[in-house]
Amino acid sequence: MKFRLSIGAMALLVAGVPLANPPLGLPPVPVPADNPQTPEKIALGERIFHDKRLSATGEVGCVSCHDPAMAFTDSPKRVSVGVNGLTGTRNAPTVVNAAYMKSQFWDGREPSLETQSHQPFVNPVEGGLENHAPLLAVVRSDPDYAAAFQRVYGKAGEQITMTEIGQAIASFERTLIAGNSPFDRYHYGGDPRALNDQERRGFDLYLNKARCVSCHVIEQDQALFTDNAFHNVGVGINQIQDEIPPLASAFLEAKRRGADVDKTVLTDPKASELGRFAVTDDISTVGAFKTPTLRNVARTAPYMHDGSLDTLREVVIHYNLGGKSQESDRVNPYLSGGIRPLDLSEPEIDDLVAFLEALTSPEFAATTATTTSPTGDEDHEPSTVTAQLPEAGERDRSDRPAAAEPGAVELRQPESGLHFRLPLGFPHPTHQGD
Ligand code: HEC
Ligand code: HEC
Repeated sequence: MKFRLSIGAMALLVAGVPLANPPLGLPPVPVPADNPQTPEKIALGERIFHDKRLSATGEVGCVSCHDPAMAFTDSPKRVSVGVNGLTGTRNAPTVVNAAYMKSQFWDGREPSLETQSHQPFVNPVEGGLENHAPLLAVVRSDPDYAAAFQRVYGKAGEQITMTEIGQAIASFERTLIAGNSPFDRYHYGGDPRALNDQERRGFDLYLNKARCVSCHVIEQDQALFTDNAFHNVGVGINQIQDEIPPLASAFLEAKRRGADVDKTVLTDPKASELGRFAVTDDISTVGAFKTPTLRNVARTAPYMHDGSLDTLREVVIHYNLGGKSQESDRVNPYLSGGIRPLDLSEPEIDDLVAFLEALTSPEFAATTATTTSPTGDEDHEPSTVTAQLPEAGERDRSDRPAAAEPGAVELRQPESGLHFRLPLGFPHPTHQGD
């Protein structure tokens, strides 16, 4: 079922009012009152998201590291690659469902989607621009952009600032919403066959023996799989264990002298490991990072803020050892109290991994990706990704085929060919070309 959004659906777009019909398992998307969703603004944001001209080399855009074909990450890269092949310190989180996050980045240093996007353009290992001036010069002078900014904001020339750009990108990101995984169909959709026996055993472990749910939260009527809080789960901290006090004071000193936190944490591997401390200046938050969502995690390897764990099995083993990636690692003194050895058996580890694999939305299931070359070279053919809905009878899961769910619109993500189903109230942008 494919159809264009009608004026009726548009009427659902009321600033600050939660929108109707998010996908199964997710709450309405929060939309700030001062940045209401409109189809034109979403289209503009999508266009900026894909525009590689807005970087120092003309080769890096948001899409380079948040590729629709990779569930909006740069999987399988361990850390991201920006202009001139420069690598950062951190693994790119997915942008899918980022709209629900109470803060952005692994350390939560940006409060909103509106402001988050200002950073990558000018980070030396991402977009690499000296400042925002060249970017603004492009969007102010390009006739297509000029027309779009006029339509969306009634603004032209110098009136176009990073505020409008950040708002448009955020509006686009608020359409990247994906739920309705086998887990959702089982837990919220009333389909007992949506999870197989192993996945159900994994779910039980997730809730009870392994206590994953205490941070990767599942609620009565929806699941974001995050508590929007910061915890030290023992990843990466071994790199700096013996140097924490001097590193922490050097960081504070640099910050006091005006060092840019975004640039520092993404270019200095040791500063990166300080985690939430970079924002709070509170030593008890050293090595703490934001609890990421687990939705679509089977599609976004490798894992953790530093991309140091290659597989979901390695992640579960890390938790099973009580916050150590290897038996021989030391447990760090800032470890969260919620992390203790779990005593899971090998079959239980498999069950838990199977459950994590059941958190994949139909949009990202069975994705055949032919884009993103491992070198980060973006000179490839346009993406030919197709996301397939499960075949009838496959794993007994398709009794509730995603596209048949009422109140949802199936659409084609124009840049990627990826099928998205966005809830009504999230009009898809009319693509405006490059
Ligand atoms: C060179 C690769 C790269 C580029 C280009 C890039 N990002 Fe990212 N993105 C990352 C990495 C790495 C992180 C995590 C950084 C951190 O947490 O310190 C991130 C984090 C994010 C987050 C936070 C998600 C969360 O759950 O906290 C959002 C949202 C995001 N990026 C959107 C964008 C947008 C919009 C653009 C374009 C303006 C962009 N990114 C450009 C690599 C990139
Ligand atoms: C104390 C809170 C807490 C508990 C308990 C917890 N997690 Fe996490 N989880 C986190 C945080 C914080 C991160 C990010 C850590 C980092 O990158 O340093 C994370 C990261 C992950 C990731 C990586 C996701 C990605 O996109 O890179 C997976 C997978 C994961 N956890 C699964 C689990 C499972 C399975 C359990 C139960 C065995 C569990 N977690 C228990 C807080 C927790």
